Amino acid sequence: MVSIKLSDLSAAQKQNYLQHAIAPRPICFASTIDKDGHVNLSPYSFFNLFSSNPPIVVFSPARRVRDNSTKHTLQNVMEVAEVVINIVDYDMVQQMSLTSCEYDKFTNEFEKAGFTAQKATLVTPPMVKESKIKLECKVNQVIPLGMEGGAGNLVIAEVLMIHVDESVLDEDNKIDQTKLDLVARLGANWYTRANAQTIFEVEKPNLNLGIGFDQLPIAIRNSTILSGNDLAKLANVSEIPAIDNTFIDERMKHIIQYYSINPDDMEKELHQYAKEMLQHGNVNTAWQILLTGNDN
Ligand SMILES: Cc1cc2nc3c(=O)[nH]c(=O)nc-3n(C[C@H](O)[C@H](O)[C@H](O)COP(=O)(O)O)c2cc1C
Repeated sequence: MVSIKLSDLSAAQKQNYLQHAIAPRPICFASTIDKDGHVNLSPYSFFNLFSSNPPIVVFSPARRVRDNSTKHTLQNVMEVAEVVINIVDYDMVQQMSLTSCEYDKFTNEFEKAGFTAQKATLVTPPMVKESKIKLECKVNQVIPLGMEGGAGNLVIAEVLMIHVDESVLDEDNKIDQTKLDLVARLGANWYTRANAQTIFEVEKPNLNLGIGFDQLPIAIRNSTILSGNDLAKLANVSEIPAIDNTFIDERMKHIIQYYSINPDDMEKELHQYAKEMLQHGNVNTAWQILLTGNDN
C-alpha cells in the first residue's frame, strides 16, 4: 500500500488521485444565464444529491488549476441565482463533452454542441430538450472552498421542478432505473454507463437486524469458498434458520454420498453449492445446504 500525504502533492496531482478514486461521479449538466441574458451550458461531476426534503443538490465549479480563473457557470449563478440541471445519458455524452470546451462567455454552448434549448417553467435558463430528466433549481447559496487554483465553489441549489420523459417511466409513473442509460465520470478520460446490462441490486439490510458475521457458525465464517459478499448475505438473516428435513435435492444427495469419506472435500462441495445459490439470490436454500450438510 502506497501512502501519500496530500500536502506533498501539487494541485494537479491531488486532482488526479482524487478524481480516479472518488468515482464514478454523476454529471450535473448545468444550464445558467447571466444578468444580460447570455446562456451557458457546462458539465460538472463534482455533484450530488444531499437532501430530498428539502430537495437540495450541490455541484462545484472549481477555480482553474492552470490560472486560478473562475468558470462562467459560477459567475452566472452569482448574477442570476438559478440553474437547470440536465441529466446526462449515453446518447448525449459526446455532445455534453463538447460543451466543456472553454468557449468565451458570449458563446452559447447549446448551439456549439447541437443541443435544443427548451423553455423552463419556473426559472430563466433554458433546459436541454434532448435530456430525459431535467431539474429546475434556484440557487440558495454559494460557498467558496478556497481562493487558489483547484478550489471548489459549492453551488447549493434547491430543486423546484423535475421533468421526466415518459420513455423512462414505469406503469406507476416512477423512474425505471433499467430504462435510463446514465453516464458518470471517473478519472482522466474514463466514463461509465449505468444501464440494464451493468446495474445490479443489493438487498437492503434486514430491518429486524441481521445476525452479523460474528454469529455465523465458525465453519461457514472460515470458509475458503464463500467470499465476504456471500457471508454478508448469510449474515443478513435475523436468525439462523431451522433445518428443513424435506430439503435435500439430487445434488445434495450426491455430495453427501460421494464425499462422506472425506469431510473436508464434502464441506468444499457444499460451500460451492451454497455459493451458487447465493449468487442467484436464494439465501434460504444456501442456508439449508450449509446446515443440512453440516448435519450429515
Ligand atoms: C464530464 C465533465 C465533468 C466536469 N466536472 C467539472 C467539475 O466538477 N468542476 C469543474 O470546475 N469543472 C468540471 N469540468 C470542466 C468544465 O465543464 C469546463 O471547465 C467548462 O469549460 C466550464 O465552462 P464555463 O466556464 O463555461 O462554465 C467537467 C468537464 C466534463 C467534461
